[in-house]
Amino acid sequence: MPSIHYILYDGSEYILDALLGESVMIVAKNNNLQGILAECGGACSCATCHVHIDPFWVDRLPPKEVLEEEMLEFVEDADETSRLSCQLKITEDMDGLIVNVPEEQY
Ligand code: FES
Repeated sequence: MPSIHYILYDGSEYILDALLGESVMIVAKNNNLQGILAECGGACSCATCHVHIDPFWVDRLPPKEVLEEEMLEFVEDADETSRLSCQLKITEDMDGLIVNVPEEQY
């Protein structure tokens, strides 16, 4: 079972077990993690599930679809490490993935 490391803006860290096929967003929501609002429920239409991926992992994840790219254009502090966590489906290869939850979603 892969585990995902979430680092909140205050520096607190949570290591959560994830089921294959779940999204990084769903794992956070199921564990009541703060900072991932996910107002659209994973439909890729709100961008309130924005996270910054640890640089080590950025090129190890599946590439963004066009819609994710377009939604990230509306995120104020988006950069090359930005992803929408609802669009990241957990695979075995993601064990140990580190995501940073941005302050603006608190
Ligand atoms: S939950 Fe709305 S875009 Fe990810």
